[in-house]
Amino acid sequence: MKVKKAIFPVGGLGTRFLPATKSMPKEMLPIVDKPLIQYAVEEAANAGIEQFIFVTSRGKSAIENHFDHSFELENNLLSKGKRETLKTAQEMLKIPGSFAYVRQQEPAGLGHAVWCARHLIGDEPVAIILADDLIHGGNTIKEMIDNYNSGNMLAVMDVDKKEVSSYGVISPGKLIDNNVTEILGLVEKPSIEKAPSNMAVVGRYIIEPAVFEVLEKQNRGSSNEIQLTDAIASRIGKSNCVGYKFSQQRFDCGSKLGFIQANIRFSIERPEMKQNLKSWLKLEIFSDD
Ligand code: G1P
Repeated sequence: MKVKKAIFPVGGLGTRFLPATKSMPKEMLPIVDKPLIQYAVEEAANAGIEQFIFVTSRGKSAIENHFDHSFELENNLLSKGKRETLKTAQEMLKIPGSFAYVRQQEPAGLGHAVWCARHLIGDEPVAIILADDLIHGGNTIKEMIDNYNSGNMLAVMDVDKKEVSSYGVISPGKLIDNNVTEILGLVEKPSIEKAPSNMAVVGRYIIEPAVFEVLEKQNRGSSNEIQLTDAIASRIGKSNCVGYKFSQQRFDCGSKLGFIQANIRFSIERPEMKQNLKSWLKLEIFSDD
C-alpha cells in the first residue's frame, strides 16, 4: 500500500539545546547550512510522500516560514543576479496545500503529538519522521515504505546496553528477512535490567490507522507522557508489527554530541570544506593525540 502522508512532530521544547532554542525551534538548528527539519522533509519527499503534516506548538512559526516564500529575500537576490542562492532559498517550496500544520497545545508526549494529527489522516497508513534522528548515507523511510505491507513498522538499531533507557526497545521475534524482524513486545525507556534487548527504536515509523484509535484512550506512560510506543505495543498480535534494521548511519541530533558529530560528518562531504576542515582537525584538534 502506498504511503502518501508523513507526520513531523515538531512541538518539543528542545530544552537540551538551551539557550539556543529559547526563541528558535530546535528543528531549525542547522547541520552545516540546512535546518534539521529540511533534511527530514527531503527524506520524505524523496520517498514519494505527498502530504507533509507538522505537529507544532507555540513558538514554532519559523518552521512554517521556512517552507514559504520570503519575498524580500527572493527579490533582493533576484535584483543582484544571485540565481544559485535564489534557488537554495526556494528549494523547499512545495506544491501549494501539501503542507499542513496542527497545534499540540501541551507537551504531553510523542503519542499525543501524533494523535493531534488524526483528523488529517484518513483510513491509510502514515509515516512518522522525527527530525532529531538525522539519517546519513541513504533514505531510511523510503526503504521502509518499499518493504511495508501492513500493520506497524519501526526503524530499529542496536545500541549499547547502557543506552537502552533513552529509547523505545523491542523484544525481537523471528527474522522475516535480513532487514525485517518480527516484534513481539515493545517498551518505552526501560531500565537496563528490564530491557528486553538492546534493539532500539529510531524516529522512523509507518503506522496503521488503528493506532490513532488506541491513542485516543492511551494512558500516560514513561515520563508521565502519552507514548507512541505504548499504543503500537497494544496492536501487537492484532496486526503485523515489524522492526526495520536500516543500514544508514543515524545521528542523534537531540544530543549535543550527536549534533556536533553530524555537523562534522556532513561538512567533510562538502568539497569546498573537506580539505580545510580535515587538516584543521588533524593539526589543531588532534595534534596532541
Ligand atoms: C522518542 C521515542 C522513543 C524512540 C526515540 C528515538 O523518544 O519515544 O521510543 O526510541 O524517540 O529517537 P525521545 O527521544 O523523543 O524521548
